[in-house]
Amino acid sequence: MTESISSGKFISVEGIDGCGKTTQAEFIFDGLVEAGLSVKLVREPGGDPISESIRKLLLHAEESMSDRAEALLMIASRAQLTDKVILPQMIDGKWVVADRYADSTVAYQGGGRGLNVNSLSDINHFGTYTLKPDLTFFIDISIEVANKRMSVSRDRIESAGDNFQQRVRDQYLKLCDNEPERFIVINGEQSIEDIKLEIWNHIKSKFNL
Ligand SMILES: Nc1ncnc2c1ncn2[C@@H]1O[C@H](COP(=O)(O)OP(=O)(O)O)[C@@H](O)[C@H]1O
Ligand SMILES: [Mg+2]
Repeated sequence: MTESISSGKFISVEGIDGCGKTTQAEFIFDGLVEAGLSVKLVREPGGDPISESIRKLLLHAEESMSDRAEALLMIASRAQLTDKVILPQMIDGKWVVADRYADSTVAYQGGGRGLNVNSLSDINHFGTYTLKPDLTFFIDISIEVANKRMSVSRDRIESAGDNFQQRVRDQYLKLCDNEPERFIVINGEQSIEDIKLEIWNHIKSKFNL
């Protein structure tokens, strides 16, 4: 199904909590709109009414959640978002910018929670209808810098601790090594403006904008 999509492009933004994903995803969206493209900005988990309900469960559940249930809910939310929002947009030749996508599951539930990375990749493959971003920005910052930036009220996954965040970061770096043609690693400890420019330059050259 996804092989037939040609003109609409899909860009995702990844990284640990507080690295600047939401800030930069909004800039990417604005830049593409200014370039005259039709674009949709989505966030994960969420981006569709059913996916947003799953998001509430995932981020604010009071009861202890099993790691596998967490992984499957993340991928269920992604399947809904992909089927109902991302694929229709792309089939229409439009662009999508995602604030997190499938790599987050491998990094958080694989690296962070310690679930089998190959199993997660297989379930991701099913849950994404085999769709992959054309370009993924991994915004890399240290755990110390992330801690300084994070708000006092943290959600369930943001409050999993420094060792957890470090494992997530390490797993992201492995993903970048494994797929260097898709991932661009950005030093997230630069100024917001410098990161925005660096990202935009990559987008311009990759997509001839
Ligand atoms: N490059 C940067 N330098 C300093 N502060 C930043 C930078 N990028 C983002 N921030 C700030 O850090 C906080 C987290 O940024 P946000 O974009 O929400 O990160 P994420 O979505 O990755 O959790 C926000 O207060 C944001 O303004
Ligand atoms: Mg964010």
